[in-house]
Amino acid sequence: MIPFLDLKKINDSFQPELNEKIADCVASGWYLLGKQVKEFEKEYSEYIGTSNCVACANGLDALTLIFRGYIELGRLKPGDEVIVPGNTYIATILSITECGLVPILVDADPITLQIDSGKIEEAITPLTRAVAIVHLYGRNSFATEIADICSRHNLILVEDNAQAAGCRNSDGRITGSLGNAAAHSFYPGKNLGALGDGGAVTTNDPELARIVRTLAFYGSEKKYVFDYCGRNSRLDEIQAAVLRLKLPRLDEDNSRRRVIAEIMQREISNPLIGLPYPENDKTGNNNVFHLFPVFCEDRDRLQNYLMENGIQTIIHYPIPPHRQKCYEGKIPIRHPLDVTEWIARTELSLPISQVMTEEEALQVCSILNDFK
Ligand SMILES: Cc1ncc(COP(=O)(O)O)c(C=O)c1O
Repeated sequence: MIPFLDLKKINDSFQPELNEKIADCVASGWYLLGKQVKEFEKEYSEYIGTSNCVACANGLDALTLIFRGYIELGRLKPGDEVIVPGNTYIATILSITECGLVPILVDADPITLQIDSGKIEEAITPLTRAVAIVHLYGRNSFATEIADICSRHNLILVEDNAQAAGCRNSDGRITGSLGNAAAHSFYPGKNLGALGDGGAVTTNDPELARIVRTLAFYGSEKKYVFDYCGRNSRLDEIQAAVLRLKLPRLDEDNSRRRVIAEIMQREISNPLIGLPYPENDKTGNNNVFHLFPVFCEDRDRLQNYLMENGIQTIIHYPIPPHRQKCYEGKIPIRHPLDVTEWIARTELSLPISQVMTEEEALQVCSILNDFK
């Protein structure tokens, strides 16, 4: 059996230090708002390359706090439009609608599977104030073209970096430092995963960082004084200690994922199975392969076949956000979403991780190549 993601094996690879760090936290008697979180924020902002990092409870909160922060700063207001890829995990869209903003869905590029940068400009209206890009599947979705559109139209650029920890732009900058603000998730299955929920906001904007920190702490900057209606959203000390242990190995882990991805790119040769487009960035660093998506018109039969042959897969995602019941009649669909629909119909994510062996990858390829 080759599991989709062997979290136990991943975490075992950090032993015995992992247990020691946790035991130290337990013994310290200090569980929230302490040294571990402070140090993690410092180390993560250094890694990402931003002047600020605010840790919070999860990736959805990170995204929501960014939009709420911009609203409190007067740079966004409810009713404003945010351009966002239609092909994303629903959390990106939830953060927009939760703040009373309007998501304007733009289709994916069929090659990169990321937001189609050539379709952003035509989605702009007088109400557009922001663009949210999502580095989906671990692939960098930033393009200078997007930054140019944002600066020409005075739009805020938000990055959803939940799936792309450690990914690089072609100029070497890391995703999470490319826009005005970025949201990160440390959900256990992410490339940088905690042992529970976790998230962070990174930004070079000190005002945004301040307001995000305040909103994440009940809306308070001064003890028992509440200037905003905030929430409680924090990373705990144990998770911060775990992330501090894992962060120094993130680049190495991502390189391992690339080795596995290269094997699958090279070895899968079944005409019924479409592969993600190979990297156009010579460094290869613009993809950290959080997922390895393949495409098949007979996807459900392929998934069953793989399961019967001991290979676990997951679909990302079977129903796109705009067709979910929660958004029925509630969000505008102004632009065609054909590629998004095609991805939802045909996508299947193969096992990939830093602890998967080359033999396992070859086994996956050989079983896939026998699919008829
Ligand atoms: C693209 C994307 N955005 C946001 C999130 C939300 O992160 P979290 O699960 O930490 O709330 C996730 C993952 O779950 C995601 O994949």
